[in-house]
Amino acid sequence: MKFQDIQKVEVGYLNTPLEYMPNLTKEIGKGKLYVKRDDLTGLAFGGNKARKLDYLVKDAIDGGYNALMTFGGVQTNHGRMTVAAAVKYGMKPILVLTGAKPDYCSGNLILDRMMGADVHFIDTTALAGLPEPEKSEKTSAFLAQETAKIVAEYEAQGIRPYNVPVGGSSLVGAAGYINAVPEIMQQMKDQGIEAKYLVCGYGSMGTFGGLWAGAKYFNAPFEVVGIPVSATFRGRDQISEFIGKLSAEYELGITCTPEEIRLETGTAESPYYGVGYNIPDPVTQEYMALLARTEGLFTDPCYSGKIFRGFVDLVKTGKIPEGENAIFLHSGGTPAIWSKEHLDAAQELFYGGEGLFVHKA
Ligand SMILES: Cc1ncc(COP(=O)(O)O)c(C=O)c1O
Repeated sequence: MKFQDIQKVEVGYLNTPLEYMPNLTKEIGKGKLYVKRDDLTGLAFGGNKARKLDYLVKDAIDGGYNALMTFGGVQTNHGRMTVAAAVKYGMKPILVLTGAKPDYCSGNLILDRMMGADVHFIDTTALAGLPEPEKSEKTSAFLAQETAKIVAEYEAQGIRPYNVPVGGSSLVGAAGYINAVPEIMQQMKDQGIEAKYLVCGYGSMGTFGGLWAGAKYFNAPFEVVGIPVSATFRGRDQISEFIGKLSAEYELGITCTPEEIRLETGTAESPYYGVGYNIPDPVTQEYMALLARTEGLFTDPCYSGKIFRGFVDLVKTGKIPEGENAIFLHSGGTPAIWSKEHLDAAQELFYGGEGLFVHKA
């Protein structure tokens, strides 16, 4: 099907602002730095998943499904936004989360529950001691087995769950980010912005894949640079294959070789993805604080804080050449700031030191 003919709904807001960051630009002292505010897509505190859900929800409605089911870690942003989309369109929200049930409900998880989501924890703690690759294989097998059971149970009750893939990153979902490219190009034109780099996160690949395909198809003036958000990220062959499939599916007529893909991870000693997936990381906290104190903007400790770290480092180290302008795609995730583990870890940096005063009567 031709890209222009794909149908969608609008779960949130498109045309998110493209803003100049004057104070950050001054502090870093290189080219002009901009932010594309996809943290403001509106749905359930916003984030990048809204653009994907526009297409996924339409696909679910057209397929006659009455529930949205998706997968992720316990603090998944994608899960929170999928639940909100289900609620908005009168479908049952179902989350299948890999991890132990936390004793304390916070961050995204409490929002999921407020929205009435059924939450299934797939607790594989018992497999933690196994060596790789056995651990990963057994974890995947257990997830598949439990998911099949969960689906069968819902179906027996007349509930048909539409399977929204992890991160919403199917060919259907990625269409949302192909479409983001003409939006950004139009905003650049309207505001007289010239930028050669668009820096985004790289997790389940849909955001990067869609943007990359869109940039080539629409002949964008910028290169799309991906910042992997965890140590175990899919390689260039996999993303170029995904982009090839996007091109075939939507008749884009573009090609993508692994060599054309630009992913930036930082150094082995100081990777942008920090110490591990969703593990509180002091360096990420410093970068979150940098954007907060210069522009009053918030990123999250699991994704956008790391992506922002990469963005700033690329500028500082000259990988984005001196004097060139660049755009940071803010993909949201901010409710994770209020997850218990990240709040606990933030106490030392933000609730000590200078600037705290107590005036007792
Ligand atoms: C806030 C945030 N930014 C970036 C990403 C990565 O996007 P993608 O999964 O499309 O690669 C995610 C994924 O969940 C996310 O939640």
